[in-house]
Amino acid sequence: MFRFKKHILLIVVTAMLLAACGGKAPASEKASCAPNCQYTDMTFCYPQLGAESDWRTANTASFKETAGERGVRLIFSDAQQKQENQISALRSCIQQEVDVIGLPPVVEDGWEAVLTEAKNAGIPVIIVDRSVSASKDLYASHIGSDMKLEGERAAAEFNKQFPNGAKVLELSGTTGSGAAVGRAEGFRAKLNAKIEIIDSQTGNFTRAEALPVMQAFLQKYKPGVDFQGIFIHNDDMGIGAIEALKAAGVKPGDLFIVSVDGTRGGFQAMVDGWFQADVECNPLLGPQVYEMALKLMNGQTIEREVLTDETVYYPANAAELLPTRKY
Ligand code: AHR
Repeated sequence: MFRFKKHILLIVVTAMLLAACGGKAPASEKASCAPNCQYTDMTFCYPQLGAESDWRTANTASFKETAGERGVRLIFSDAQQKQENQISALRSCIQQEVDVIGLPPVVEDGWEAVLTEAKNAGIPVIIVDRSVSASKDLYASHIGSDMKLEGERAAAEFNKQFPNGAKVLELSGTTGSGAAVGRAEGFRAKLNAKIEIIDSQTGNFTRAEALPVMQAFLQKYKPGVDFQGIFIHNDDMGIGAIEALKAAGVKPGDLFIVSVDGTRGGFQAMVDGWFQADVECNPLLGPQVYEMALKLMNGQTIEREVLTDETVYYPANAAELLPTRKY
């Protein structure tokens, strides 16, 4: 009898742990309109991290346009790449008692306090795009790209091109951001042992900041002699880097360049011969985030992590695909 009770206890505890740690999770709080909430009942807060890239512009448009189409009341702000601005915007949304918050975190660390405040206020938070290091029980779900896989995919391109080794540079994204951390980690994990990363500097995901970083690289290292390739963490930085390369007399194809995003600018760089591959990172996350937000309001079960299915684009069909690109 005692053994039987112990088994029941074990099953109950395991079920509770599973619900808390991963897989499917029930919504923490239902809205008063549950189980029949509609999009028109929803006030959704999106404290966007900035406007640093074409990717980000497309992500903002996806949230604004989808809110307009579905009748969601959207509270939008732009944190200009500053975590303190995002935290203030989150606190303002908590005070306004929004139904759901979508948070695209500029960096991974430092979210525990404000996520705890949202949780205590009964407002579910969906982490969007980049990841956070905070405990998973402080937010409902994460919807975004597998940044580590993107870095691994970039490494695979270098491995194909340089099976016998090469020296490469890395122009990385915002320091401490889930996108930069994941891409750098995946790249290093899969790069063949004969390929050496001789230098890595951040261009903060912007064209303006990437340009002087590339200029400084070119002062230090001779293209084609000291390095043969560059891994660039996003297309906007790639476009900034191309400006510096052109000014230094480097021609398209002299270096093996792999970028990330798959924006129209990235496709144009492939058409022009500058990028040899562009690893996709999809910004059009609005529809699926709102769908999950509605489920949360209605108290339905949701996935704890939803990673976007992505690919790698190549110059061979870049010209054909360019007119079809949505961002
Ligand atoms: O977090 C996604 C990254 O952020 C995109 O690669 C980049 O373009 C953006 O700024």
